[in-house]
Amino acid sequence: MAQPRILVVDDDESIAFLLCARLKSYGFRTVAVNSGEEALRYLEKNLPDLIMLDYLMPGMDGCEVLKKIRSEKSISHIPVIMLTAKHDQSCKIEGFKMGLDDFMLKPYDPEELAGRIKAVLRRAKPPVLKKIKNILITGGAGFIGSALARELLKRKYRIAIIDDFSTGRRSNVKDMLGNKNFQLITGSITDEALVSKAVEKCDLIYHLAATVGVKNVVEKPLDTIIYDTVGTSIVLKYASPKGVKVVLTSTSEVYGKSKKYPFREDDDVIIGPPGVNRWSYACSKLLDEFMVKAYHDERGLPAVVVRFFNIVGPGQVGSYGMVIPRFFKSALNNEPIHIYGDGEQIRCFTYVDDAIDILVKLADNEKANGEIINLGSNNQISIKELALTIKRLTKSSSKIVFEPYRKYYGEHFEDVKKREPDLTKLKKIIGFTPKTGIQEILEKILHYFEENPEELNNI
Ligand SMILES: NC(=O)c1ccc[n+]([C@@H]2O[C@H](COP(=O)([O-])OP(=O)(O)OC[C@H]3O[C@@H](n4cnc5c(N)ncnc54)[C@H](O)[C@@H]3O)[C@@H](O)[C@H]2O)c1
Repeated sequence: MAQPRILVVDDDESIAFLLCARLKSYGFRTVAVNSGEEALRYLEKNLPDLIMLDYLMPGMDGCEVLKKIRSEKSISHIPVIMLTAKHDQSCKIEGFKMGLDDFMLKPYDPEELAGRIKAVLRRAKPPVLKKIKNILITGGAGFIGSALARELLKRKYRIAIIDDFSTGRRSNVKDMLGNKNFQLITGSITDEALVSKAVEKCDLIYHLAATVGVKNVVEKPLDTIIYDTVGTSIVLKYASPKGVKVVLTSTSEVYGKSKKYPFREDDDVIIGPPGVNRWSYACSKLLDEFMVKAYHDERGLPAVVVRFFNIVGPGQVGSYGMVIPRFFKSALNNEPIHIYGDGEQIRCFTYVDDAIDILVKLADNEKANGEIINLGSNNQISIKELALTIKRLTKSSSKIVFEPYRKYYGEHFEDVKKREPDLTKLKKIIGFTPKTGIQEILEKILHYFEENPEELNNI
């Protein structure tokens, strides 16, 4: 749309003037009128692309004007955003009942207002599937992000990654650095200027950057909360006005202590209390999910949440609490394999390439938009069985030692007994589920360590 035209309706001339000036600075054309009656007269002969309507006006108030607009066939389709200084917000409820498109309280943040206008304008148009060329991956130097970047480069997309290397590794992206279609942006997703610039150039965002790993989360709950929520809010804030699709990676941790197996996306979740640091991750990711849903439902952002269930494979490091690399390191060095707790905890491990295949498919699948989808496998195995299998596979003489959680994660640690995904929704949306079995996954990881023995030092 070439320079959208906005009708500003406000009885206060100076406010209308200021609003028009701000909107012009964001590339909109504006016309201002100072009463509801004047607005309706203007609309008899003109069709603006959007109307900014003040609520409190002498004569007709904003809701009365909106009612007239919605009942007049020739103008009823024009999107309307209401602005008000009234704090009880009853006008908001009334306005939405009458087909209001968005609502903002004065004083408003100009950047936020411009973003919301763009989102409303985009929703007013029929959705057009944008051809994807440029992809941004936050957390692209991490285990999953770097494998995703590599796969997308093979498919000839242009990839930019943002990573602060908190848990990501330069060695994960070293092979891609010389590729003309690959750009590394070093920095944090909490840096708004950096994120807004990167989002400006992309057609799709995979948002993976997060503080991860049980050990990390338990030791750094503040990082977890800030990076995993504020960071996400910044990514969504800049994606929304552009309508750039966001694929957000969440986690099976959000099911918390639920015992209703297998976990379905619409199940209630049972999260532990704030006194137990591990739940800061689940709570933050859950809030991310709410944010994505809200941006999708209220602002029409094409976005999908993917709940990962233990994604594993070559290249994963164990220093932040990841179990498989840690067990391999101990087994290959014939050192004791430490199991935290009784080892009866059950997990379903998913091979990283299977997960990436699905992430790629979800990106241009419109049925996925607005959905929260489990991404995992049915490879159920107890942690004790996992240790025994790795010991067998590596022909190790390691002893298996059971230790209390508190030794590693402090007094108040709580573990989750079992995590098993219901994959019905995933199957319905993309037609298949991950297939690599646990034995094959472990063999591939062993092969990787045999080829790259120096990697054992990074665990
Ligand atoms: N691996 C799994 O089994 C699993 C399970 C559930 C969810 N997830 C989710 O998948 C995503 C990727 O996880 P992973 O296993 O690849 O972990 P990872 O630690 O290898 O990747 C996370 C990446 O994000 C980067 N990062 C962290 N904070 C950042 C910030 N503020 N700004 C920029 N970059 C930042 C890290 O440096 C790292 O490269 C995460 O969102 C995680 O929550 C993974």
